[in-house]
Amino acid sequence: MPAIVLIGAQWGDEGKGKATDLLGSRVDYVVKFNGGNNAGHTVVVGDEKYALHLLPSGILSPGVTPVIANGVVVDVEVLFDELDALSARGVDVSRLLVSANAHVITEYHRTIDKVTERFLGKKQIGTTGRGIGPTYADKINRVGIRIQDLFDENILRQKVEGALEQKNHLLVKVYNRRAIAVNEVVDDLLGYADRLRPMVADTGLVLNQALDDGRIVLFEGGQATMLDVDHGTYPFVTSSNATSGGAATGSGVAPNRFDRVIAVVKAYTTRVGAGPFPTELFDESGEFLRTAGFEFGTTTGRPRRTGWYDAPIARYAARINGVTDFVLTKLDVLTGLEKIPVCVAYDVDGTRFDEVPVNQTDFHHAVPIYEELPGWDEDITGARTFEDLPATARAYVEALEGMSGSRMSAIGVGPARDAIVVRHDLLG
Ligand code: GDP
Ligand code: IMO
Ligand code: MG
Repeated sequence: MPAIVLIGAQWGDEGKGKATDLLGSRVDYVVKFNGGNNAGHTVVVGDEKYALHLLPSGILSPGVTPVIANGVVVDVEVLFDELDALSARGVDVSRLLVSANAHVITEYHRTIDKVTERFLGKKQIGTTGRGIGPTYADKINRVGIRIQDLFDENILRQKVEGALEQKNHLLVKVYNRRAIAVNEVVDDLLGYADRLRPMVADTGLVLNQALDDGRIVLFEGGQATMLDVDHGTYPFVTSSNATSGGAATGSGVAPNRFDRVIAVVKAYTTRVGAGPFPTELFDESGEFLRTAGFEFGTTTGRPRRTGWYDAPIARYAARINGVTDFVLTKLDVLTGLEKIPVCVAYDVDGTRFDEVPVNQTDFHHAVPIYEELPGWDEDITGARTFEDLPATARAYVEALEGMSGSRMSAIGVGPARDAIVVRHDLLG
């Protein structure tokens, strides 16, 4: 079972970091293939809590080679800050590999991200402000800066000049901001080159050779299915392919090499930033989920929007990603609820939709049709086998499994590394 993709099924923050960490001791490589430091993964190891943004969560497992692949956008300053912070806590970060083809987030990308959001006013996406969208836009526009450009001052200068020529007009004339000097950006990026050089590799080649040698490679998605630029709630999405297909284009490993697709899904739903969210709660139940689940962003600290489990979304994720296994997380957060509503379909202006509507306006108008399942009062954080769970909690998991299009192979019952019930081996 050598190549495994792990992605989020909803709008992010499903607990992908914890799931990756769970598999960490058994895999050889963990590859980040999309996004950048917009991600926020909290991993709890014993008494230690780690917040990872740009680095794949596998970096916490000794023996794993973490890889930042070509599909990622890299803020080099953030990269070194994160590496230094982990080193200071005794984590071995020496194996990290960075693709020569990954794109680089610069000062102008961060600035443009913030000013365009401000200009959108009430229509803003609610981005993380890390420059992610503008960097991917430059990549698609063929005016991006890549990691390999940091090792050729001439090329780098030409590319930054080309990019800034147009962007400075925009910054000054449209957004009323100061122009950014070419030298400022070039000097900043060149300042990282020496430290970066030993980490840079043809990561597509390394990963294919690793698979040829029978090594186990885990591809860890940032963001999630409903934030995917093609398959998510466009335009309220991130700017990369966070679905399983992104693991191929974002790494240089061909689709026919992937053996398993694990989707992480929360026992309820959350979202950060703007955009449609049919099961969103605005009452005390929503507040309950936010407080009990500690739903505050790892990256921006924003309170997350909360709502009940949405089965059509899980089915959609199963379909788009080819999910073989779900990891259901945060079941413990639902403890104490007498009844747990689960969305089974939508009502859109009087018409029933069993699947996620393709039309954006329909999805904005979708009103959940709920089925209520009985809750439980027992503390489940100590459960380690499925049988340890109360009968109603087991019934909740089985009902979700029946609605969601794939088996639920592991169940998170707390933030701790070992707070998990494994029903089917995720690598076996
Ligand atoms: P990611 O972005 O998908 O990696 O998820 P985040 O780390 O942003 O958010 C998930 C949060 O839930 C983190 O704070 C985790 O420590 C926590 N978490 C993960 N699994 C569980 C679980 O089963 N139960 C509880 N209570 N917390 C969990
Ligand atoms: P992890 O990996 C939740 C959201 C932002 C915003 C939209 C676009 O921790 O699950 P961007 O800065 O990417 O251009 O913002 O996407 N977003 C996330 N929401 N979890 C994430 O990552 C996210 N990364 C981006 O809030 O709505
Ligand atoms: Mg997160």
